[in-house]
Amino acid sequence: MKKIVVAIDGPAGAGKSTIAKLVGEKLGYAYIDTGAMYRSVTWKFLGTGKDFNENVIGELAHKMLIEFKPEAKVNRVFVDGTEVTEAIRTPEVTANVSKVAAIGSVREAMVKQQRRMGEIGGIIMDGRDIGTVVFPDAELKVFLTASVEERAMRRYKENVAKGQTCDLAKLKEEIAARDKADSEREISPLKQAGDAILLDSSHMTIDEVVQAILNMVEERL
Ligand code: CDP
Repeated sequence: MKKIVVAIDGPAGAGKSTIAKLVGEKLGYAYIDTGAMYRSVTWKFLGTGKDFNENVIGELAHKMLIEFKPEAKVNRVFVDGTEVTEAIRTPEVTANVSKVAAIGSVREAMVKQQRRMGEIGGIIMDGRDIGTVVFPDAELKVFLTASVEERAMRRYKENVAKGQTCDLAKLKEEIAARDKADSEREISPLKQAGDAILLDSSHMTIDEVVQAILNMVEERL
């Protein structure tokens, strides 16, 4: 059967990773979480203890090996052989990732790896620039969004389920600030591709969103 490239873009906390992982499993497609890649670069840089420097971070990004090992519940992430699945989700990484992701040489390194991963098709990739920059010819592009209130509430519940305490109002601020930074940056900003389908999941369950995307895939096959 024909295998296509599915690009899922959208703002922070829209549920892209959860949805893309489930759709990938249903289709037997590889799922690539590009946000995890930018988070990995940020984690690696923070670990050096050095001051923010675009050249240093760009060099790190070109040298690191990022691997995904999907499991039933989690998509495990490794950097140069070390597991970073949890480490890349700390508030410190989240607070710094947009700044790191705005660096041209970092994006160049990541996009190169992403295109290589998608070469053979049969892939679902989520991020901010997948439909606009990484795979402008993807057969299916979805722009997945939800109100900022809903996205903050989902992230809040996720954190609580993990046993982390957090402040809903602060989360909402953090998400809005990250969306602003991601949308306003010069290189590959977050924006809906002209040929992407807008899917507002504010009032949809996970299953409904997964089914909607599976229907779109079906139409393209
Ligand atoms: O899961 P969450 O919505 O918190 O964000 P993420 O998908 O893990 O992405 C983290 C950050 O990486 C974003 O806020 C962007 O700054 C950056 N990113 C990007 O620039 N381009 C991508 N294709 C994916 C993520």
